[in-house]
Amino acid sequence: MQLLSTVLVALVFSGTRLADALQISSAGMTALLGSVAYHVAPTPVATLSLSNSSEAASLKSGETFVPFTFVDASGGSFGPGDLASVVAKNAASDDVWSPNFLTGLYISSAAAPSLSPGNGTEIILSSSDTPLSASIPPGPYIVNTVTGNVFEAWRLYSDENQAFLYGTVPDGEGGFTELDANIDGAATVSVAVPSRLYFTPTAEKPLAGARIAVKDIYDLQGLRTGCGSRAYFHQYPPKNTTCPAIQRLIDGGAIIVAKAKTSQFANGETATDDWVDYHAPYNPRGDGYQDGSSSSTGSGTSIAAYSWLDYAVGSDTGGSMRGPAGVNGVFGNRPSHGAVPLTDVMPLAPELDSGGIFARDAKSWQVAGNWWYQNFTQFNKYPSTILFPVDAWGSSFLTDPPKAGTADAMFNTFIQKLEGFLNTSRTEFNLTTMWNATSPLIANVSNPPPPLRTVLNTTYADLIALDQISLVADPFIADYKASHAGQSPFIDPVPLARWTYGRTLNATERKAEAITNKTVLMNWFQNTVLNGTNDETCSNAIFLYPQSSGKTNYRNAYLDPPTPPFGFSTDTIAIYAETPDMVVPVGELPYNSTISLTIETLPVTISFVAQKNCDLMLFSLFAALQDAGIVSPVVTGQKMFA
Ligand SMILES: *[C@@H]1O[C@H](CO)[C@@H](O)[C@H](O)[C@H]1NC(C)=O
Ligand SMILES: *[C@@H]1O[C@H](CO)[C@@H](O)[C@H](O)[C@H]1NC(C)=O
Ligand SMILES: *[C@@H]1O[C@H](CO)[C@@H](O)[C@H](O)[C@H]1NC(C)=O
Ligand SMILES: *[C@@H]1O[C@H](CO)[C@@H](O)[C@H](O)[C@H]1NC(C)=O
Ligand SMILES: *[C@@H]1O[C@H](CO)[C@@H](O)[C@H](O)[C@H]1NC(C)=O
Ligand SMILES: *[C@@H]1O[C@H](CO)[C@@H](O)[C@H](O)[C@H]1NC(C)=O
Ligand SMILES: *[C@@H]1O[C@H](CO)[C@@H](O)[C@H](O)[C@H]1NC(C)=O
Ligand SMILES: *[C@@H]1O[C@H](CO)[C@@H](O)[C@H](O)[C@H]1NC(C)=O
Ligand SMILES: *[C@@H]1O[C@H](CO)[C@@H](O)[C@H](O)[C@H]1NC(C)=O
Ligand SMILES: *[C@@H]1O[C@H](CO)[C@@H](O)[C@H](O)[C@H]1NC(C)=O
Ligand SMILES: *[C@@H]1O[C@H](CO)[C@@H](O)[C@H](O)[C@H]1NC(C)=O
Ligand SMILES: *[C@@H]1O[C@H](CO)[C@@H](O)[C@H](O)[C@H]1NC(C)=O
Repeated sequence: MQLLSTVLVALVFSGTRLADALQISSAGMTALLGSVAYHVAPTPVATLSLSNSSEAASLKSGETFVPFTFVDASGGSFGPGDLASVVAKNAASDDVWSPNFLTGLYISSAAAPSLSPGNGTEIILSSSDTPLSASIPPGPYIVNTVTGNVFEAWRLYSDENQAFLYGTVPDGEGGFTELDANIDGAATVSVAVPSRLYFTPTAEKPLAGARIAVKDIYDLQGLRTGCGSRAYFHQYPPKNTTCPAIQRLIDGGAIIVAKAKTSQFANGETATDDWVDYHAPYNPRGDGYQDGSSSSTGSGTSIAAYSWLDYAVGSDTGGSMRGPAGVNGVFGNRPSHGAVPLTDVMPLAPELDSGGIFARDAKSWQVAGNWWYQNFTQFNKYPSTILFPVDAWGSSFLTDPPKAGTADAMFNTFIQKLEGFLNTSRTEFNLTTMWNATSPLIANVSNPPPPLRTVLNTTYADLIALDQISLVADPFIADYKASHAGQSPFIDPVPLARWTYGRTLNATERKAEAITNKTVLMNWFQNTVLNGTNDETCSNAIFLYPQSSGKTNYRNAYLDPPTPPFGFSTDTIAIYAETPDMVVPVGELPYNSTISLTIETLPVTISFVAQKNCDLMLFSLFAALQDAGIVSPVVTGQKMFA
């Protein structure tokens, strides 16, 4: 094994003495084993009592750091056949372990193992002659053969899609530090992941060992929260608490491995023009030069790009989970409003903000959803009403059947299978006509009622601008000016356009009106469109609309300057109605790329909306659809399906 570096960090503390003492702290080591780089944490997890071992003398004359495989043979004897099965199991279930870790073998067994060195194994120790100071799970470790210290092996991966700000590792004090490690020649951020062999999920810890990236608007103890702004990142010290939403995932066993990039202050930015402070992450699908949507861009692209990552947390105020899920071709949800507490998370508009999670597989998505949204009830029966709003699907969909080879044809085939699974057929209806006929505004305002696009045209723009000005922009700009001789911080064009618009409004009046209009839509959608709840299936209906349709949005196109987000469309309904809106991959559509000049494919995904607080019914439905072969897990890279 080759040790590449020992990273030493000098910390300077202010004190009362004239000269401060030099303090050295180790950020761990980077080790190369075969062609694979590993991060070795500075703190050992256990120590071997080598003094008793007959092998101690030979160990001490050899290399200091030796890769070991720890094996649990508490069942009794351990021989070559047992070793062969351990090797096969490790190779199949873990990306961190490799046969290079067989240089040393440590066997936990009451009896001495019936194995001798050979086949690359140089050292065999067992608990019968070499006690270990603490019980540790089986798997790959690095052992210091002089001190007996045992270190976990975390594999390093490079962030080729530039999805992250930095990798995160535990700081040993309940918080995190930025990973201080590099892979030679990678020229990107590195991320360290622990061996999967260290963890076994249980009912109490269903996320044990799950590797999760977190959008950089959630506070993590020991780390700064940057919110996509360089000035904001440097303005405030590292956080002293981990927000409750992420703590819940950690309590369930999750391993937080990276902070993911967000568009600035979680406002919607399009690659690349809008991304001034940080470069936009790369959506891996198709030619690799498509916009990754926003604002949970780093979270969405990372799940589409990295098979070594299991989940990524994002947030959705006006589409920030659903957009990235759609164009990156992964599972991603906007949950019911209030599903997770958003204390110590940067707000856009607290009335609309929500915390969601990306995954590549409906069944693992369900595991995370059931754990994270702990206050919701689980349901295993599903609605028999499929609402199909014709105005959202577009007139081309209504040609019977949709033209082969189109996104509409893929949607139609998927919905037909869903109809079969739920033993029902879709209810086609026109949302615009229904509003005109059943709006609560008919009684209070006018008959016919003002159209939805009038009632909700500025609601989102008003709420996010007014809330974010008072909760984020004003305090931040004041703090920045106070510490920068009156200078103002740089703000990206998109948040700046929104805040500038917000500053023209009468805040009290417009906010009250926006909340009123939001509530009108919410009540109408929940009660009249979704038709309430029931005890068996939670929601009386499922409401479907197209999320992404395989269209290109090249990241090298120049854009018009940003304007406030006015307007009304189907994807804004869940924002106001507080309902879950969950994105599920359906297929992929070919296109002729102007980048690669070859035929590539882009994601086609569908959105499922159901009644508020019925999120776990939808998670269960998608898992059941995956079992039935109607929904498929996706893979990472250019194509969604292998
Ligand atoms: C190891 O040696 C120590 C004394 O050096 C002794 O107390 C202990 O029992 C020994 N352990 C084993 C497993 O032999
Ligand atoms: C080495 O590997 C071979 C093939 O797997 C096996 O038959 C043999 O027993 C091994 N030898 C040792 C010393 O473990
Ligand atoms: C944590 O940080 C907050 C905000 O900076 C501060 O008000 C609080 O006193 C800190 N708490 C501790 C325990 O240091
Ligand atoms: C869910 O319930 C737990 C335990 O009762 C509570 O601490 C938490 O605040 C609740 N979360 C939400 C989002 O209401
Ligand atoms: C829905 O109804 C509106 C208003 O009547 C109409 O303009 C629109 O064409 C309808 N959409 C579809 C797809 O039928
Ligand atoms: C499907 O629904 C029809 C009526 O809507 C019913 O007669 C039939 O039994 C149902 N089939 C299943 C498998 O539930
Ligand atoms: C709206 O409803 C009124 C009746 O209340 C009707 O006259 C009008 O045609 C409807 N408009 C649309 C677009 O459906
Ligand atoms: C939406 O509001 C903007 C800003 O006030 C306005 O320019 C636009 O015409 C409005 N659109 C509709 C459909 O009302
Ligand atoms: C709220 O809805 C009313 C119609 O009921 C409309 O006149 C008003 O412009 C809307 N206000 C906002 C802020 O969207
Ligand atoms: C804002 O609107 C409120 C309510 O209509 C009004 O009382 C107040 O004077 C307005 N403020 C400004 C600065 O116009
Ligand atoms: C609404 O739900 C009730 C049961 O809660 C049902 O009887 C009724 O038929 C449903 N209406 C529609 C339009 O589906
Ligand atoms: C894709 O477009 C390029 C450039 O316009 C063209 O040369 C090529 O023939 C096209 N490929 C297909 C399969 O249409």
